[in-house]
Amino acid sequence: MTTSNFRAVVIGGGAIGTALADQLANDKHCEGIVVTHRTPSKQSSTGKITQLELNLESEASIESCFASIAQQWPCIEKIYICSGMLHEGVIRPEKSLTQLTSAHMTHSWLVNAVGPLLVAKHAEPLLKKSRGQSIFAALSARVGSISDNRLGGWYGYRMAKAALNMGVKNLAIEWQRKRMNTICVALHPGTTDSPLSAPFQANVDSDKLFSPAYTASHLLRLSSQLTQSHTGKFFAWDGSELPW
Ligand SMILES: NC(=O)c1ccc[n+]([C@@H]2O[C@H](COP(=O)([O-])OP(=O)(O)OC[C@H]3O[C@@H](n4cnc5c(N)ncnc54)[C@H](OP(=O)(O)O)[C@@H]3O)[C@@H](O)[C@H]2O)c1
Repeated sequence: MTTSNFRAVVIGGGAIGTALADQLANDKHCEGIVVTHRTPSKQSSTGKITQLELNLESEASIESCFASIAQQWPCIEKIYICSGMLHEGVIRPEKSLTQLTSAHMTHSWLVNAVGPLLVAKHAEPLLKKSRGQSIFAALSARVGSISDNRLGGWYGYRMAKAALNMGVKNLAIEWQRKRMNTICVALHPGTTDSPLSAPFQANVDSDKLFSPAYTASHLLRLSSQLTQSHTGKFFAWDGSELPW
């Protein structure tokens, strides 16, 4: 991607999203960043970063967030979907079929798959006006790869991330047809120390557990190397292409 001035939106200011936003803010070409949370903190906006409310389970919330952004900015050049749900409250990734529940599967589907595509829907008018090349990058997960699945388990999360991957591929095709200058990719961040991965870190070697800052720096380096020829693909943090 070219290095011209940009405005960015980071959906989900969790561990990776916050690190990504902080590093984007240090870029001299960055004019501003919106980071979304379900409940933004009071001391929300610092420097180039503004926090806005967004809940992926509600299209009205997504629409309202992008209406607020459109009041401030004429265009967006970068969108990173850094939200995701593996466990929450009583929801745990399923180890076997007997643990599946309709409610938990639906929740995962809304947050991990449907919500990011609704973000694309409401961001499209601002991306269409982007100055030069733009990017829509959704953090997926290697476990969402159907052909890479050797262990099974984690039905809801795996199925939702596989659906997200299909959504990203569809979106890339539609935006190419519309002649939009937006690179659209799914990215696997690597196992990263965060609330999402915390309960599952016991068997991860310490040198394989990335800090959010390390992950963010790799994702930004990879993003900077992408061109239109990469749209509609799935990449790991190190730049290797992953099979769907
Ligand atoms: N960490 C890993 O090892 C790992 C590995 C593979 C893939 N990933 C993927 O990387 C992404 C970032 O994960 P992370 O490790 O940074 O996790 P994290 O720190 O737990 O952050 C998760 C984010 O998702 C947001 N979120 C959850 N439910 C939401 C909802 N209903 N509406 C809006 N936002 C919602 C949270 O928002 P609030 O701020 O409102 O709580 C939070 O900002 C996820 O897509 C995850 O699947 C992570």
